[in-house]
Amino acid sequence: MSSLKMATPTLASQTPPQTPPLTSSLPTPLIAPTLASQSPSPTPTLASQSPSQAPSLAASPTPSLASPTSSSWHFYQSQQSVADKCAIKVRGLKKAFAANEVLKGVDFTVQRGTIFALLGSNGAGKTTIVQILSTLLKADAGTVEVCGYNVKKQLRKVQESISLTGQFAAVDAILTGRENIMLMANLRGVANARKITAELLERFGLTQAADRRASTYSGGMMRRLDIAMSLVGAPNVIFLDEPTTGLDPEARIEVWRTIKELASGGATILLTTQYLEEAEQLAKQIAILHEGTIIANGTLDELKQMFPPAKIEYVEKQPSLEEIFLAITAKDNSAKDGGAA
Ligand SMILES: Nc1ncnc2c1ncn2[C@@H]1O[C@H](COP(=O)(O)OP(=O)(O)OP(=O)(O)O)[C@@H](O)[C@H]1O
Ligand SMILES: [Mg+2]
Repeated sequence: MSSLKMATPTLASQTPPQTPPLTSSLPTPLIAPTLASQSPSPTPTLASQSPSQAPSLAASPTPSLASPTSSSWHFYQSQQSVADKCAIKVRGLKKAFAANEVLKGVDFTVQRGTIFALLGSNGAGKTTIVQILSTLLKADAGTVEVCGYNVKKQLRKVQESISLTGQFAAVDAILTGRENIMLMANLRGVANARKITAELLERFGLTQAADRRASTYSGGMMRRLDIAMSLVGAPNVIFLDEPTTGLDPEARIEVWRTIKELASGGATILLTTQYLEEAEQLAKQIAILHEGTIIANGTLDELKQMFPPAKIEYVEKQPSLEEIFLAITAKDNSAKDGGAA
């Protein structure tokens, strides 16, 4: 996997955080109703590197993403005028858990209709930021605006504008895929719940598996269902907390494609990730959270310019393990949809 090797001086891995129980604090139907307990998948940590070691920036082979299709996001398109006003503004954000000062003054802005990737090692505070921005957690200080609404003062307006796919799946494994989406549609009171559900199932390649219990889904299918559920109601701002953690490369590429489509349909997307390649592939803007503040923020090109020019070496290029894996496992989508559970 290619890596954006950044100046992350002491990104030593930390104790994995406790995810607060979101179930009890779900303030709005826009936020998933149940957070079924799932053991977190192990995630790679950002290797600690000194800036002098950093810039091996030669592009390594990455699977290309198919260009976004213009298919069925018409309900997104219909919300375009609302989405035009949307952006995220975070200024001086602070949050501590007892003596643990997690956020010490975080500032960033996300332009509407773009994908913003928030990187950081385990425990850096990514989920904390997502929870504050999605109104699940209160900040100690600072201001946060989502779609022009203040998360403290206009909580309900923010909740109406967003969706959250949390770090751990919100899918109810006992229900079928269709029932999960229907449940969400009913909770959110959307008109045409049945039609929207069918569209989402189709869009996420889950039509054939729609009437099977989610407990029989593969990890990738589960994650796709999770994201599909969060999109009921056509939110303008989408928070995705580690959307591809634990997915195989094929499923990850599928989720990437979906995320790109959502952005091209006008949604503003903030995602957190530990996969640097994910940020490279998807994000217009990348920010690195470290020791409570954003230590780097910009486009990939801008971040690259922060480092000395790359040393040019001529090496025999080998395929990456990811390319080998994808070549060997290339299966068609229909097989994945109906079969591999
Ligand atoms: N509700 C809470 N109570 C106490 N401490 C918390 C709570 N939520 C988070 N923390 C602590 O805050 C810090 C940041 O946690 P957070 O989950 O935001 O990190 P993260 O960057 O999302 O990490 P990961 O990559 O492992 O998901 C951690 O030290 C964690 O233990
Ligand atoms: Mg997290």
